[in-house]
This record gives sequence, structure tokens and C-alpha cells, in this order.
Amino acid sequence: MVMERVDAYLEAHRATFEEQLKSLLRIPSISAQPDHDLDTRRAAEFLVDDLHAMGLASATLIETQGHPLVYAESLDKPGLPTVLIYGHYDVQPPEPLEPWNSPPFEPTVVNGNIIARGATDDKGQMFTHLKAAEAWLKAGGGFPVNVKILIEGEEEVGGANLEAYVKANREALACDYAVISDTSQFAPGIPAITYGLKGLAYFELIVTAAKSDLHSGMFGGTVANPLNALASILASLKDADNRITIEGFYDPVRPLEAWERAEFAKLPFSEADFRTQTGVPSLEGEVGYTTLERRWARPTCDVNGIFGGYQGPGPKTVLPCKAGAKLSFRLVPDQDPQQVAAQFQAHVAKVTPPGVKVEVIVHHGAPAVLVGVDSPGVRAASRAIEAGFGVAPVFMREGGSIPVVGLLKENLGVDTLLLGWGQNDDNLHGPNEKFSLADFHKGIKASAHLLAELAG
Ligand code: BES
Ligand code: ZN
Repeated sequence: MVMERVDAYLEAHRATFEEQLKSLLRIPSISAQPDHDLDTRRAAEFLVDDLHAMGLASATLIETQGHPLVYAESLDKPGLPTVLIYGHYDVQPPEPLEPWNSPPFEPTVVNGNIIARGATDDKGQMFTHLKAAEAWLKAGGGFPVNVKILIEGEEEVGGANLEAYVKANREALACDYAVISDTSQFAPGIPAITYGLKGLAYFELIVTAAKSDLHSGMFGGTVANPLNALASILASLKDADNRITIEGFYDPVRPLEAWERAEFAKLPFSEADFRTQTGVPSLEGEVGYTTLERRWARPTCDVNGIFGGYQGPGPKTVLPCKAGAKLSFRLVPDQDPQQVAAQFQAHVAKVTPPGVKVEVIVHHGAPAVLVGVDSPGVRAASRAIEAGFGVAPVFMREGGSIPVVGLLKENLGVDTLLLGWGQNDDNLHGPNEKFSLADFHKGIKASAHLLAELAG
């Protein structure tokens, strides 16, 4: 009976929910850009207002050293489980703007998809849980469980302040289940529960030599060129089989088990479609593994940016005095980001050619996570997804990282239910980021059913 009233509320408010999501997407809450600090705060305030409007008087903005957290709770069901819902309201920078077909902060609906920065990552997905909560409060007479909602504004920049907050508030955040929708489905019409995420180790390399830029004719061939040196350091990181050459790097890597390889192989994955989606001439990666295995369960290394020398139009014959690169490793269980940092530094010291100085800057890191696939929470989530999407989910891993999952495990002892409503071609972090409105509504329904399923 109650569930029907909740479902009816969702049906009746589809248009309102879409308009509210558009309002949230109009706020350029780009956590990385200080020019947008006030906008980022405005997104947090928007969410507090929304939570107040649905009847969560406890909703509040929590100040941090950076962007504020949003927190709300409803704990009036003693003896029943407590569900912690996490999401993030900050977004990646939209740049470069040129490939966008519509402005990133003017949400536009095309072919049933809403297009805007943050549409899928994570405003649209996070908002599904808020609208599910609203339905319970407005039409269900209150939540069927105890609920804690925590939304951060620094996920895309490493979430250092959230880490401090979780460590200092273990009791206040204690819960039986944690839920995050910030991942993808396996494919359209194939919803998924994600049980593994990769970890991350992020570095910057700065290579310097002469005290200023030099004429490359007068000095070339007599002093080291930092760009050439950087190129050789970067090239040394992988061998011809696309294996990472850093000593000890693979030692802790948990090998793929036979059952998991068999499960991956059963999923309806098309290499040809993946090639078309990415537009590459061929798929490349570590020898001996399938594309899904490489994406989900093998560590990788990618250069994320490189700078140095003359970048303007036309030629300039210069021998630059400085060059740099940003690069990251995606990690799998049981690699430790700090150990990888030490191994990387040792490798760089070993392969750096003479005549240059190298500095390694170590940025934020996170370990990979694997959560159990056989638990009451996962079974409840499967039923909820079936109610929302009409089909049972498959189980998959992802190549992306959500550092808070490890943080919650470590500090609250909970495995997170990773229920992603996105699609692999949503283009998160890229131009024309999108989110299917049909999946938005199915996700809301699944989230609403999840609370009932977790109640018992
Ligand atoms: N939502 C993503 C994580 C994600 C992406 C999970 C794709 C599954 C599939 C998240 O917001 C994100 O982008 N995380 C960063 C890590 C962070 C430390 C900057 C990432 O994975 O690069
Ligand atoms: Zn995200």
C-alpha cells in the first residue's frame, strides 16, 4: 500500500523532478576553479533548501576548510537499519568548451538525454536518491528505515576535507548500509551492481636543466633537453606488451580468479562497439587480458597532461629549460598508493638521464575497493533495481575511482552498494556529458524501493 503511494508520487512528479534537476545543473559548481567557489556553495545551498522543502528539517550545510558538505538525517526508526546515502554536487571543469553542442551549464534535452556538465556525474544520479526520499516523506508517511544523507563538494578534487570529516564523525555517520549512485550500468537496458572500483595514484613530474631557455642551434647537443628527458622517462614506464615496468609494481596485484574471468566473458560486450564508441583504430592494452579485464581488473598507467617548450603558432627553435607531466596509475586490489609512490620515485631516479633535475610531486591517492556480492544488502539492491528498471542487474567492476568507498569501509566498517544509473557513453568529464531521463526516473524508483527493501 505505502509503496504504491510512493510510486504514484514519483509518477505524478516526473516533470517537476526534471525541472528541479535542470535548476541544479545550471549552477556551475566547479570545485577545481576558485572563480566558482560561490557557485559551488550555491549548489550546496540549493540541496539544503530542497531537503528542507521535503521535510528534512535537520538538513544543514557543514563548513570545511574547502567546499561545504551537505548533511541531513532522519533517525526515528529505532531497531530498524540505518542507510547512509552519499553523493557529490561538485563537477569537473567543462573546458574545453569548443566541442560542446550547447553551453555546459544550460541543460538541454536531446533524444531523451539531458545534456550538461554534472548530468550523470554526479548531480543527476545523486538527485535520484533525494527525490526518492521526498516521495517517502511526502507520500509514504516517512522513511521505512533510518536515513543519513551526506553530499560533498570536493569529490572531483580529491575530497581531503571529507576524509577529515568522516574520521572525526565515525559515530554520527554509523550505518548498516551505504549507498552511492556514481557509476554506470553495464549497457542500456542492462542495469548493474558494481562490486569493484580501481584505486588511484597521481603524480606530477617536473624536469629542469639550464637556467633559462636556450637557442637550440647554439646549445642543442651540448646540454640536456628536459622535454627529451621527460619523454624518455615516460616511455620507460611501459614495455612493448603494455606492461608497467616499475619494479615490484605487480607484486601485490591480486590475480583475476577463474570464476571472475568466466563471468566477465559471459557479459554481452562487443569490442567492435567499444572501438566505435571511442573512435580508435584498434584496442590496445596489457597483453594476455581481454578488454573488460583490462578496464576493470588490471592496473594501468596514463599520462594525463604534458607541458614544456614552445606551444604557440609557427616554429620556434628553442631548447626549453623546463618540462613537466601529470600522470596517474589506476590501481587494483591489493596495491597500496603509498607503496606505488615509493616505487615510482625509485623508478624515476633510476631512468632519469644525466644532465637534468627531476622533481616528483605526489598527489592524492586511493586504494582500490572490492565489495561482497553475496550479502543481504546486495540482494535487497537487486530487488530494488528490478522494481525500478524491470530487469535484474548484472554484476560488474569499473575502472573509475570513488575514494569515499574505501573511507567508509575503513572508518564505518561498511561495504557500499554501488548502484549506477549512468551509461558508458555518458561522457563524464568530457564534452556533452549526458544522462538519460528515462534512467533518471528508473533510478528514482529503484532508490525508493531500495529503502523499503533494506528495511527488512
Ligand atoms: N563518478 C566518478 C567515478 C567513476 C567514473 C566510477 C566512471 C565509475 C565509472 C567520480 O566522480 C570520479 O570521476 N572520480 C575520479 C577520482 C577522483 C579522486 C578525482 C576518477 O575516477 O578519476
Ligand atoms: Zn562522480
